[in-house]
Formats: sequence, structure tokens, C-alpha cells
Amino acid sequence: MMTSKEIRESFKDFFANRGHQIVPSAPMVIKDDPTLMFTNAGMNQFKNIILGNDAIKYPRIADSQKCLRVSGKHNDLEEVGRDTYHHTMFEMLGNWSFGDYFKKEAIEYAWEFLAEVLKLDKNRLYVTVFEGSPAENLERDDEAAGYWAKYLPENRIINGNKHDNFWEMGDTGPCGPCSEIHIDIRPESERQRVDGLSLVNQSHPQVIEIWNLVFMQYNRKADGSLEPLPNRVIDTGMGFERLCMAMQGKTSNYDTDVFTPIIKEIEKITGEKYAV
Ligand code: ALA
Repeated sequence: MMTSKEIRESFKDFFANRGHQIVPSAPMVIKDDPTLMFTNAGMNQFKNIILGNDAIKYPRIADSQKCLRVSGKHNDLEEVGRDTYHHTMFEMLGNWSFGDYFKKEAIEYAWEFLAEVLKLDKNRLYVTVFEGSPAENLERDDEAAGYWAKYLPENRIINGNKHDNFWEMGDTGPCGPCSEIHIDIRPESERQRVDGLSLVNQSHPQVIEIWNLVFMQYNRKADGSLEPLPNRVIDTGMGFERLCMAMQGKTSNYDTDVFTPIIKEIEKITGEKYAV
């Protein structure tokens, strides 16, 4: 069984071997962006590069970013402590392309990493693509669906609405259609009984999103309009604790080695037994 440390390292190695500069996690408290208090995604530290205000130093980057989702557009506070797969602070594994590769390679890399390198069961993976939004004059993401069709049968490529499949950093800022990878970690008997397809994006604790691939093409302006970005950007984010859960055959993030050593230590200190 791979440890969480090995899983993190294998992500970084995979992208380093494909020309990505590995950078450190940015601080969680944002200093110079009035639109955001805490880092809520890996792309925050690259916002000015994405908007074209800063020069592109490395066209390809990957990292593991400490995130905090407790306020604003991305807020998981209501879920934490109630379910098995949300956290206030969590780690997001991400890879970026600034004006370099786009949808095709982002999809190829993600599939190769999950299915070939980590060897997650391909039959348990589902993907979603943006269904489009006539109100915003945005079309269905046929292009992404076409690339996924190389790997998955058509019925496991699911349309998703603007809420799930158009990712925005906040009320303003970089955004674009996205394509998510979901995994079904239920026991085989359950899977026979209920098709995983019907559980994607239904808040089932064992059919969950693990990786979001965002195809950044717009800047959302304060008046709500979308302005094209100077470069097309790939921005991905994978839930590290969720990936560890899937890789370690657990059904709760808290049962992975990301948390168990801490929980054991708390048991020792308090003399209380951890019980679910
Ligand atoms: N920025 C994207 C997210 O947080 C990858 O889901």
C-alpha cells in the first residue's frame, strides 16, 4: 500500500518528468488580493500570471497547495465534521499550463496518472464535462468529451451544469469550464446493485470527485461579464486526502495515514478512544 507521502511524491515526479517546475505551497493567508482572504485553490498564487499581469516564468508548474475553504465562494464549513471527505484545511495537488498545453494533454496526463501510474480501477472512474450555458453564450465542452472518449465509454462521460462544471475563483477573477474525475469506492456488491453513474454529484460519500481539470479561458469582471484571458490556462486540483482514501482502500479520509497518526496521538494524550 502506498503511503500518503509516496502518493504526493509520485504526483510531483509524474509532472516533473513531463517538464513541470515543482514549486512550494503558497501561504494560506492571502496578502495582496482584496477579493480573497484565504487560499482556496492551488491557482491563487498564479492569479496574476493567469490574468496576464505577471510574466510567465515557467509555462508548466505542479505543486501541492495547502487550502482553506471556510468562507466566500468555496466554503466547506457545513460539511466538515459531518461527512467523511470534506475538510476546512486540505491539500490540493495541482498542475498548470500557462499558454502551453491545453485540454488534450491535461486529460491525458490525468488519466495516465490515475489509471496507469496509481493503477486505480478504471471501471470505477467517471468524468463530467460542462453542458454549456445559453445564458452566458457558452457551448457544451464537446472537445473535452471527445478526448475522454479515448478512455471511457460514452455513458461514463456525464454532462454537468454551471454549478459543478464551470469553475470560478470567486465573484471575480479567472474562470472556465471544467471537467471532473469522480471515483466510486463502494464495495462490489453495492456497485452491482446501484450503478455508480446515478450517484455522481449526488453527495454520496463513496462516489466522490477527486480531481478537477479547469480550462481557464475567461476573467469574470465585477459587472458579471466574461472577458477572454490573454492565454489559455490549465488549472487542475486534486483532493489529496480523497486520493489517499481511494488508494489506501478506506471509506473515510480520516482513516488514511494522513490522519491516523494524529488521531492516535490525541487518543494517547486524552485517554479517549476514537470512535466513528
Ligand atoms: N481551481 C480548481 C479547483 O479548485 C482546480 O477545483
